[in-house]
Amino acid sequence: MKGKILAFLKCSKDYVSGQEISQKLNVSRTAVWKHINNLRKEGYVIDAIKNKGYRLLMPTDRISAAEITQGLSTSEIGRRLVVLDEVDSTNNEAKRQAECGACSGTIIISEKQTAGKGRRGRNWTSPKDCSVFMTVLLKPDMPPSRASMLTLVAAMAVRHAVYEVSGVEAMIKWPNDLVCDGKKICGILTEMSAEMDYINYVIIGIGINVNMEEFPEEIADKASSLSLCCGKRLDRNRIIASFCNAFERVYARFMPDCDMKNLMEEYNAVLVNLGKPVRVMDMENVCEGISEGINEKGELLVRKADGTVERILSGEVSVRGVYGYV
Ligand code: BTN
Repeated sequence: MKGKILAFLKCSKDYVSGQEISQKLNVSRTAVWKHINNLRKEGYVIDAIKNKGYRLLMPTDRISAAEITQGLSTSEIGRRLVVLDEVDSTNNEAKRQAECGACSGTIIISEKQTAGKGRRGRNWTSPKDCSVFMTVLLKPDMPPSRASMLTLVAAMAVRHAVYEVSGVEAMIKWPNDLVCDGKKICGILTEMSAEMDYINYVIIGIGINVNMEEFPEEIADKASSLSLCCGKRLDRNRIIASFCNAFERVYARFMPDCDMKNLMEEYNAVLVNLGKPVRVMDMENVCEGISEGINEKGELLVRKADGTVERILSGEVSVRGVYGYV
């Protein structure tokens, strides 16, 4: 209802009375008043004049559960949204909430992270008010060995959302980055709590550089933002809603077999690594060759100089020409 009231105020050029809102949206006047106060707490500036009513003075740039909900067409993903001003890491918060029984499909979003985590123990730069830091909590009924593929599913969904909202045709750098103009605009960190044969929960943490204009020196040559790629500031609420819608669709295509069979053609078509010389490093090994895309298990196929094909389950890929790696 809060979202509907917000939409109503947005469409109204002049003041609208509490009574009119209550009649049009079939809600009590007390509820209207409560929702207006909650919208104010979220940062919306809503003027109120006695005998005239309410008027939205300034739409905000802030992340708002009400606005995200307006754009949702999902049945599970994002139906429970937790929007925070600040948190250590949305992945950590998702874990805490999962341990307390939060439902599958919950999304944790924060304006700022004080200890944002990247892959391999790295930090994730998390400045206030210009990026998307969010984590999807899932409780999928599938073997733990399949969970890493959810990173690929999420990457496809972020790509859809980015395209829908900005028109930018980002490419995927296997397994977990989105790349635009040769620079990283999104990273994904998937974590899991599982028994030998049973998943308690999976959390998929997604960081999208949306309206960032500057980057710390150490990543300035490798990182970019959507706004730098398309030349305009973007609405983060729309990106999050669009991601939820896309994720639910892509996840539904993944789940029947819990593999990439239905998705690999589409994934490979937007894979920045495809057909390129790559160097993949995992904990112990380095493998060099030409990337032939992913298979139905989500593994990257690399054809080595001796003609054999190595299947890589996870690792750090350097692609010649991407992020300036050689
Ligand atoms: C990477 O490319 O190294 C993965 C980066 C993942 C960053 C996101 S931001 C939201 C979520 N919370 C975290 O602490 N990390 C992920």
